[in-house]
Order: sequence, then structure tokens, then C-alpha cells
Amino acid sequence: MCGIVGYVGNKPVVDILVDGLEQLEYRGYDSSGIAVKCSDKIEIYKAEGKLCNLREELSSHAYEISKATVGIGHIRWATHGAPSVVNAHPHTCNCGKLVLVHNGIIENYKELKAELEAKGCKFRSQTDTETVAHLIANIYGEVKDLTKAVHLAAKKIEGAYALCIMHNDEPDKIVATKRNAPLVIGLGEGEYYIASDVPAFIKHTKQAIYLGDNQVATITKSSIKIENENMLEISPKVELLPWEPVALSKMGYKHFMLKEIHEQPDIIRNILVGKIKTSDNNIVLDEVNLTKDTLKNLNRIQIIACGTSLHAAMVGKYIIEDFCKIPVDIEASSEYIYRNTVTDKHTLVIGVSQSGETADTLTAIKQSKARGSHILIITNRPDSAMAREADSLLSVNAGIEVSVAATKSYIAQLTSFYLLALYMAEIKGTMTSDNLKKIKSEMLLLPQKIEQILAHKEEIQKCARKYANTRDFIYIARGINYPTALEGALKLKEISYINATGYPAGELKHGPIAMLDETMPVLSILMNGSVYEKLLSNSEEAKARNARMIALTNSTDEKLNDLFDSIIRVPDVMELLSPLIAMIPLQLIAYYIAEFLGKDVDQPRNLAKSVTVE
Ligand code: AGP
Ligand code: GLU
Repeated sequence: MCGIVGYVGNKPVVDILVDGLEQLEYRGYDSSGIAVKCSDKIEIYKAEGKLCNLREELSSHAYEISKATVGIGHIRWATHGAPSVVNAHPHTCNCGKLVLVHNGIIENYKELKAELEAKGCKFRSQTDTETVAHLIANIYGEVKDLTKAVHLAAKKIEGAYALCIMHNDEPDKIVATKRNAPLVIGLGEGEYYIASDVPAFIKHTKQAIYLGDNQVATITKSSIKIENENMLEISPKVELLPWEPVALSKMGYKHFMLKEIHEQPDIIRNILVGKIKTSDNNIVLDEVNLTKDTLKNLNRIQIIACGTSLHAAMVGKYIIEDFCKIPVDIEASSEYIYRNTVTDKHTLVIGVSQSGETADTLTAIKQSKARGSHILIITNRPDSAMAREADSLLSVNAGIEVSVAATKSYIAQLTSFYLLALYMAEIKGTMTSDNLKKIKSEMLLLPQKIEQILAHKEEIQKCARKYANTRDFIYIARGINYPTALEGALKLKEISYINATGYPAGELKHGPIAMLDETMPVLSILMNGSVYEKLLSNSEEAKARNARMIALTNSTDEKLNDLFDSIIRVPDVMELLSPLIAMIPLQLIAYYIAEFLGKDVDQPRNLAKSVTVE
């Protein structure tokens, strides 16, 4: 993960770098640092923890750095070595002349380190990154050309990386390169910006070049030269970014997470506009290129994703199989990429990702593309690396999600899965027109039902506080809401650090029931429909072991009052659409528990929003 920025031009560089890093804080916040070219040498400033600590550190050096106009910066999510100042980037070599920032993992760093130590290099940090600083500096000693040294070093490195490098002997220049990690160069007037992601420089320029794998860019304020891996100059494609700078604000909410939860009704409305015109019209999905022929030739669908997106994929499997009668497999991308799958040209591969750059999912997508599958990407970032691999793109349009814990992007992904499943069912003719009509008209009612839940959030807050002081929490559900249980538990784990687990309720008796006693809250997602009675019995089994019972339900069943200690009621909804309703109170429960416990809700420890390492 982590974020990289760089700038070469005439403006004071420090604010550009630090403001850029602030826009990339979603990528990590273990430490941050910058290196800037001062009058006669490159100076490095670093701080552990969030960016505000670096700002404070820089304030005591304001004079020395005020004239600098070239520099690189980094915000870290530690993979090798603890979050600390010594492990913070930029890293340097023994003579201190070369500095670099790195995003990714150098897989062969141990071997390289041993070779470099044998040559006399002294290592200060525990990072994999420092190896690259010594390696390039060593090669530079022989070739005296930074661009060439980077090319030669890249041939020795295994793993994934985006790198920005400066050298004291070639001042006012940044050399950048990448392999399987994002890096984009912004083009200004007599200036260039480099970043892991567009928000870092979008307020300065909309013209950009996405650097390709193994390409090396040599950038000064008046020139950019990009070479391929054979050191031959290429003419890069300059793109006009379809982005407007957005001022991200909490709009009066205490946290971005709460604001994003409240945006969900409007997000669903916006997604549905134009796609479901009325319940009588066919679904319109212009960006999806799935013809009747492609669908006819499909044997199966494979959905690949991580984390919250994987939970959306699980609901996707359920409804695609139900609506379209096509077998669907789902798999965590990190597992998919290390086995021999039978994905081929008769498989539709759907990659789901909020960020569109999760390394595991990106690698999985590339592998399945190479095997000839049609690639459909469901993402919140139509400009992302994954979107660039897509044969069909379904953009979920949830807007920028700041909170590390995904909420609105999940609801947007689910809504998109429903549209996709209905769209394919219409093409394949696998649903009756009555059924299609019923689901579409119920979908159009979802935003107002979610608004009803949000209008009663204080009741959910009260309930959450009752259960906040617990070490463990269990969520149970069956059928289409089993993924809701997993996602509810993930939300709670992520932001409150409570050990929360989601189980298919029928599995409780096969082991987990042994954990139940009067200290354990069990939340049962009891939505009307095919599994209601079974889940009620499973809840009775938990109650018989003295667990503290909570129901999340749209049922008006009187029996529930005796069985449950707390009941959270939601508006009635058809079972097939119930994950979109049931998830909202679970997001709020996680939020209110974490907030009550005083946790850092938007930036929970050890996490980052965008995970660009495998
Ligand atoms: C969500 O709350 C998590 N922070 C995380 O599990 C996330 O869903 C996962 O890393 C996948 O990210 P992506 O959707 O951007 O690919
Ligand atoms: N592997 C490097 C480190 O741990 C970079 C980490 C990253 O890209 O998140 O410092």
C-alpha cells in the first residue's frame, strides 16, 4: 500500500507534497516523510504516525525548506519493519546522496541485502525498501547515470513496486518507475507531479500519463522522457482526467463513516436513475457488453474480490444463480491467484473492488484475462487499474469513500449486482415478467426504506451501547443474509477491534455453540422469508445457552419479545432484496460501538483503504 508523491517545478514543493500526501492518507498512515532538494543537498524529514506529526516536524524547519522546488514524499503502510521513524520513507544509501520512496514489496530483498552487505553497505532500517536505495546507489557508482542505474536495478528486483528516486549529483530531477503498483504523472506548465493516485495532484492539473509496468520516467521541470524496459524512448499517451477536485468534508457529521452511511439512500437513487426507468422497462446497462451469444456460451461465472467486496460478491452469487440459473463461484482473490483454476473463455470473470487497485484482485483479473475470459469489473473507480483491464465496466458511482471501513461502496456494489443479475436474466429469459417487475418496483422503494432506518438511528445507538463492553460478538444468519452477517462482523472488527464473527446459523451447533454463555451477544439477522423459521430455531438454541440475544428483523412476530433481549426493527422488504436493508443497522451498530469506545473510526489501526500489496 502506501502513497507516493513527487514534484519538479518552480513552486515551493513542501506544501505540494504534504497536501498531496493528505489526499493519499487513505493508503496508509503508519508514518510519513519527504525529501526535498535544498540549496546544496537533499534533506529528509520523517515522522511516525499520522501526517499531522510530519507537519509538526516540518514547522521547525520552515526556513531551510521554504525555497525547495523539487522533492518526493511518502505515506506508509508498513509491510516490512515496524511503523517507526527509522523505517519511514524516504530511504537513502550510505553516502546519503540517493533518496527514494517505494510502494510495494521487494520479494527478494533478503538475497539482495546479503549481496549488498557483502559489498560493505550498512543498513539502518528493517524495511525491504532500503535494499533498493543501496542497490541503485551501487549501480550508480559504476554507470553515473540515474536513469540507467534504475533500469539496471529493476532487472534485479523481484516483487511489486512504484519508486521515485532523486540523486544529489543529478539535481532537479526525479526518476520514477513501477511494476504492478500504481504510478501516475501529472503534466503542468513547466512542472510535473508524480503520485500513486490522481487526488494527490488533481487540483493542479488534469493532464496525466499512467506509467506502464517496467517503464522508467526521467522528469525535470522542462522535460519528461519515458523509456521502456529495453531503454528505448516511447511516446506516452497523455490522458485528460475526468476528475473534478473535490473538497472532502464531513458535512457536520462526527466521522466520515457516519456521513457515508447517510449518503446511501441517495446513492441507490442515483444508481437506479436511467437503469430502471419503470418496473415495466428493461434494465439499461450501457457499459456492459454481454450479448446473448456471450451469455449462451458461458459455463459459469467466477467472482473474485477481497474483504467487503467479497461479501458483496457472495450476495451476487446468490442472486445471479437465482435469477439467471448460471453456476457462480466466488473466491478471495488472494486464494484464487495461487492455484490452478479452470477459468477459461467460457467463464465470465467478475472482479469487484471499491478502489479498483487491490493488488490481489488485480493480479487475479490479469490471470483470468490471459486465460481468455470476459472480464467484468464492478468498481467505484472507473479510472483505476482494474477498470483498464475490463471488457465490461460497471461503475458503482458511490463517490469518494474516505472512511477505511467500507459502507456506501458495499451498498452500491450490491445495488449494481442486482442490476446486473436482472439484466442478464432479461437477456437469458430466465425470469417471469411478473417476478422481474416485482423486484424492480421494490428496488425503487429501497432508498426511502433506508431513510426510515436512519431516522431511528438513536434507537440503534442505544442498543449498540448496551453491548459495547464485550470482547466477542457473534452474528448469525442463513441464506442470502449470511454475507450480511459476515459483513456486519467485519465492520465491528475493523473499527472497534472486538472479536466479531459471522456464522451461517445452522453451523452454530457444529462447534461455535460451545463458546456461548451469558457474556456472549448473539445477533440474529431474522428477515422474513424462506429461512425465517429455521433461524428462529437456531436463535432458540443460542438462547438456551444463555447468550445475550439481539434480533435484527422485519417481522412483527410476537414470539420474538420473549426470545430476544433487544430487537432492532427494519421496514418490511422481500427476502431477495433484504441484504440491502439488513446491512444498514449493522453498519450503525459497528459505528456506535466504536465511537462509544473512543476508537479512531475513520482510520482504524493497522488498516489502509487501498491494499496494493499481495
Ligand atoms: C472494508 O471495510 C475493508 N477496509 C476491506 O476489507 C476492503 O473491502 C478490501 O480491502 C477490498 O478493497 P477493494 O474493494 O478496494 O478491492
Ligand atoms: N514495503 C515497504 C515498507 O514496508 C513499502 C510498504 C507499502 O507499499 O505499503 O516500508
